[in-house]
Amino acid sequence: MTGGHILLKKSPPLTGTVEVNGAKNAVLVIMASLILTDGLSTLENVPNNADVRQMIKLLEELGATVNFAVASKVMKVDTADVCKFEIKPEIMNKFRASILVMGPLLARFGKAKIALPGGDLIGRRPINYHLEGFKKFGVVTERHDPYVNASLKSFHDLPLYARIILEYPSVGATENLMMFACLAKGETVIINAAIEPEVLDLIDTLKAMGADIQIQPAATIVIKGVGKLHPVTHKIIPDRLEVGSLLLAAAITGGQITVSNARADHLDIFLEKLCQMGHEVTSPLDKGSCAKPYGITLRATQHPQAVDIKTGPYPAFPTDLQPLTMAALSVAEGVSLVEETVYENRMIHTKELSKMGAQITVEGCKAIVRGVEALYGCEVIASDVRASCALVLGGLVAFGQTKMTGIGHWQRGYDKLEEKLVAMGADIITIDDQIIILDGLRTAQKLL
Ligand code: EPU
Repeated sequence: MTGGHILLKKSPPLTGTVEVNGAKNAVLVIMASLILTDGLSTLENVPNNADVRQMIKLLEELGATVNFAVASKVMKVDTADVCKFEIKPEIMNKFRASILVMGPLLARFGKAKIALPGGDLIGRRPINYHLEGFKKFGVVTERHDPYVNASLKSFHDLPLYARIILEYPSVGATENLMMFACLAKGETVIINAAIEPEVLDLIDTLKAMGADIQIQPAATIVIKGVGKLHPVTHKIIPDRLEVGSLLLAAAITGGQITVSNARADHLDIFLEKLCQMGHEVTSPLDKGSCAKPYGITLRATQHPQAVDIKTGPYPAFPTDLQPLTMAALSVAEGVSLVEETVYENRMIHTKELSKMGAQITVEGCKAIVRGVEALYGCEVIASDVRASCALVLGGLVAFGQTKMTGIGHWQRGYDKLEEKLVAMGADIITIDDQIIILDGLRTAQKLL
């Protein structure tokens, strides 16, 4: 899969109305949470990307039966026969979300034998907040490379009250600890918790399973342990990161798009930054109604302006849209300052954008982007899911041809986003094991 590439040519302004898939980062943790139940659950609006397929393998390895009807986006997961608490390193290290089974396995079996998770090349990504949090419940962890063995002395010895203060509002640590706490004895309070929309979607799912969870002001989550959780039917929220990717594709090409099922209330600061760049963004929230926040329309300005962005935990600017926004700022008028505070190494895409002619100076986690008149196609390498999309956005406006290798990253995070871009007028082909020529490609013959 990683041997493939994407070929792009400068595209006309992208226009159209599209729908996005369910959120990758919500469905992965919700699939893991099903280990807390015993029986048949149904997930709707499930995206078909490589990370989801990897999570299916992981659940099957544990003994679950998974049936994914890709066309209807419905996944049925039967956890009645989950009997294992050990996951092989070759499954764990394929993706970061594999760590999210630790809490559910500990809750179900009192032990988990897992390897360290894999993921993107965007920094060290340790799991210390997860492990320190589990320690508050009396979980003992030992490292025997490549495994981490975690175990509870006994369910009877669980504390009646656990107060966990996260040094940083880690999404994964909040999710893992919260899932464990649902079946733990007594009350758990997680302070400085992550409150990303994907975390809230997990909370909705857990509550539908019978969990007792409350969110209190200042990002505190209070969980009262219940004896048992039951199987559930849940529809995954729309992917705000796919929404952001599509809006930026229209913005960078000077086009117009409506993402009909996008939730504007999940993207507030990002949408504000698009407006500051000069794009016209409208959503039902503009009318003051929060009842149905679905649908965002963007009409691009032909003269986008520089803006400064600083990433941070929700509701700050999402790190996962930083590389993509930087691609758009590369061709905006003026100088932008982009500051990355979530990951220590999420600037690798700047080197690739610079190859295309972008003027970006990086110092540590800060980048100064001087807008240029044009980008030029060349060969670039994707280093993570979002970097791959940043390079595709660059390729949509670059003169000549762009060849992006590292297509496996694109496929890990997006469910055929290239087809949506092509439907909106983009000149893209993906070349995997076999050549796939998409409908609407005007220049396939020349490219090949
Ligand atoms: N961190 C630690 N120790 C920990 C946990 C995290 O130092 O124990 C650090 C990380 O190294 C990172 C920062 O804290 O620098 C944030 O990590 P967090 O735990 O919040 O992220 P995550 O749960 O590993 C999820 C998403 C990421 C997204 C981040 C931040 C999933 C599967 N992944 O990762 O998504 O960037 O939250 O919002 O939910 C993507 O979709 O492309 C992606 C990378």
